[in-house]
Amino acid sequence: NQTETRGYRGRILHFLDEPGTAAPEPGSYQFFEDGLLIVDQDRILAVGHASGLLPSLPAGATVEHWPEALIVPGFIDTHVHLPQLQVIASFGSQLLDWLETYTYPAEARFADAAWASSQAEVFVDMMLAHGTTSALVFATSHATSVNALFTVAAARRMAIATGKVMMDRNAPQALCDLASGSCQASQALIDRWHGKDRLRYAVTPRFAITSSPEQLSLAGKLVAENPGVLMQTHWAENHAEIDFACELYPERKDYLDVYEHYGLLGERSVLAHGVHINEHDRHRLNRSGSRIAFCPTSNTFLGSGLFDFEAARGAGVNVGLATDVGAGTSLSMLATMAEAYKVCQLQGQTLSPFQAFYLSTLGNARVLHQDADSGNFEPGKYADFVVLDPSATPMLRLKQHPRPKLADILFDLMILGDDRCIKQTYVAGQCQFDRATT
Ligand code: GUN
Ligand code: ZN
Repeated sequence: NQTETRGYRGRILHFLDEPGTAAPEPGSYQFFEDGLLIVDQDRILAVGHASGLLPSLPAGATVEHWPEALIVPGFIDTHVHLPQLQVIASFGSQLLDWLETYTYPAEARFADAAWASSQAEVFVDMMLAHGTTSALVFATSHATSVNALFTVAAARRMAIATGKVMMDRNAPQALCDLASGSCQASQALIDRWHGKDRLRYAVTPRFAITSSPEQLSLAGKLVAENPGVLMQTHWAENHAEIDFACELYPERKDYLDVYEHYGLLGERSVLAHGVHINEHDRHRLNRSGSRIAFCPTSNTFLGSGLFDFEAARGAGVNVGLATDVGAGTSLSMLATMAEAYKVCQLQGQTLSPFQAFYLSTLGNARVLHQDADSGNFEPGKYADFVVLDPSATPMLRLKQHPRPKLADILFDLMILGDDRCIKQTYVAGQCQFDRATT
């Protein structure tokens, strides 16, 4: 059907593999200075040089042409909280106080289904406005919040994974559930949503501090009995958190052993943070296939510490990049790349712009086991992409002369860019955000 085939022409970049830490490995990416992305309905049909591909377009197919834009795969966020938009920029505290003072009260509002629905709309629209087409999301302990987010994501055909937060102690009553009830509610949500179009469920025990041993054990049972679901939690973010967790589980060797013991580690597990960890932890993560979501703006904002990216990578741990809004200070993966670069700098490490853009696209798709369907422009994958404007701001415009090379365009975007650089965002072939009309 020719009317369903469309072309998008401009500069195009996507990754085929990890680019490595220094100059990008040859063959790890494709860049077309005058490229064409051909989309058929919701999928990628082809990508390549415009000169070679234009003749293959069906007669009458529309072609959008942005000679100065940069088209990249939609950004993927491996850890973000739906109920924490209003918590962004909360002054003056570190993790445990921040949770008590600002975060738990904001989450309690999600008991109200109308509030949950309106916030899910706002959250998804904000993600799209920041170029993010897919994410692993913490909802709240209310099933309503999960239903609200899945409903909005389904309407836009986004690959969203989320789950009901399981928490049965050390938090306000309004947010606490019971171990058995949280397990039943999670199972009902899995049955309703997991695997429906692009949606997936994530079993979501908040962290060891807010779950009883019984609840963690039931979370492990949910993971074991529902192949394909993801598991997300928080781990080793802050010293007071680590001390409290170890106090609550004196029979376990260390914090990671808590999750390991209850069957919560594995290839589909994504642990946010992992700031204060050692080689033994990294070895166990690598052996179990568990992933870390590196949340740089959150770790600096809450004063949690500096994630050791090089050590994690060196130990073979699969690391994703994440905003962790609302402890994180921006929904923008560009801003997140900038902060990740600075966290690396502070430790004498580096993060090349190629590595940063790889992480935010194909790398994060691999972390979330969705690279068969998204993360780059291989034919057959969903057409999730962002049209970036590398001269969207006065400062970026200053840097267009002389005309920058690809590495400089990417580095300028990641250090100086923000949501103003997102011109359009497409999900499964449909334009879901257009800056010109907002
Ligand atoms: N640890 C437990 N809950 C949270 C949360 O909501 N945000 C962050 N950053 N850490 C947590
Ligand atoms: Zn978090």
